[in-house]
Amino acid sequence: MFERAAFRAEYSSFLGRHPDRVLLTGHSHQAWPDAARAAMTRAFDDAARFVDEKWGEAVFPLVDAVGRRVLTRLGFPEGDAIAFGESTHTLVFRLLSCFPNDARVVSTTSEFHSLYRQLRRLQEDGLRVTWVDASSREGLADRLLAAARAGSDLFMLSAVLFEDAHVVPRLGEIVEAAVASGATVLVDAYHAFNVVPLSWGPARDKLFVTAGGYKYAQFGEGVCFLRFPADTPLRPRSTGWFADFGSLESPRGAVSERVGYGEKGARFSGATFDPTAFYRADAALEVFDRHGLGTAELRAISSEQTGHIVARLSECGIPLLSATDPARRGGFVAVRVVDAHALVGRLRERGVCVDARGDALRLGPAPYLDPAEIDRALDVLIELMKRP
Ligand SMILES: Cc1ncc(COP(=O)(O)O)c(C=O)c1O
Repeated sequence: MFERAAFRAEYSSFLGRHPDRVLLTGHSHQAWPDAARAAMTRAFDDAARFVDEKWGEAVFPLVDAVGRRVLTRLGFPEGDAIAFGESTHTLVFRLLSCFPNDARVVSTTSEFHSLYRQLRRLQEDGLRVTWVDASSREGLADRLLAAARAGSDLFMLSAVLFEDAHVVPRLGEIVEAAVASGATVLVDAYHAFNVVPLSWGPARDKLFVTAGGYKYAQFGEGVCFLRFPADTPLRPRSTGWFADFGSLESPRGAVSERVGYGEKGARFSGATFDPTAFYRADAALEVFDRHGLGTAELRAISSEQTGHIVARLSECGIPLLSATDPARRGGFVAVRVVDAHALVGRLRERGVCVDARGDALRLGPAPYLDPAEIDRALDVLIELMKRP
């Protein structure tokens, strides 16, 4: 049974020391547990103890352990192949680098900027992108299914859309159709990881899935990941020396030889990274586990919180962008506001921390928030929206 008071006590630095503030930033930057602070000190201490041996002695075992736990929370077997990068952009770009410049890509107009901007830039150089219109959520699954069946080299979509937390319906069916058409399929699961369990469907093993720990997982910066089929023949053109560590011990082959890739997660790995982030990630996961918070439990807490926010805002006639159907609503509630960014500033002055994307004001609860705190934040929001 989840004990909110005991869980909340784990966050004395972010919450206890700032009692006048309500962090409705659950969808962007959740509070970090105090254990993460201690973990960062451990990263320093391991470096001091092992110096350059820290990688084998401490870091790689930690990265492996984090990888197994991430895969489980993502809904995959813990032994699957997973590569890490400092951002999803790095990993997605590495995936794109496997394809020719004029590859056929299907994506949506509601992808996060990392992917949207990158695809548009590559489109200038010949990438053939079919954009599935996501401006209306109505009928989106049908449009995605039609595009999936039409075939492409690479099919890239978010499982939960970043503008309004819309949970894309029939994801398993859509990705199955794309895989059946011969496409490599990438799912951006950032707004699902650690808050919305996903049903991957029968094509699960064939999927590339990216997400990261900055938002709902409390890892902080630097731990993004790509789950991929271990037997993929894809050969990233963006490739660093961590992609084939094993070969470093052998003499260099002729320059004419094809570049090789290591086993499991190595193929999509890059190069030297700051390991501190993995200590933080491991500590945050340990806190979730200790309090019995798997993805299903986190989803239940989140749905109750977003449901309450939706109910209160609806009562006041405030126009919602997010779905009122809880099955279609992910980990935050988006509200349409004329000058959303200005309102973010005014809310911050009153101790309510939220963010905005375009005309969407995004309110993200988190499992450590008390119902009374959420209500306090909503009182301020409703007051400011009624009397601008
Ligand atoms: C759906 C989605 N994907 C990815 C990201 C992050 O991208 P990156 O890791 O490239 O900074 C975000 C937001 O930060 C997002 O909302």
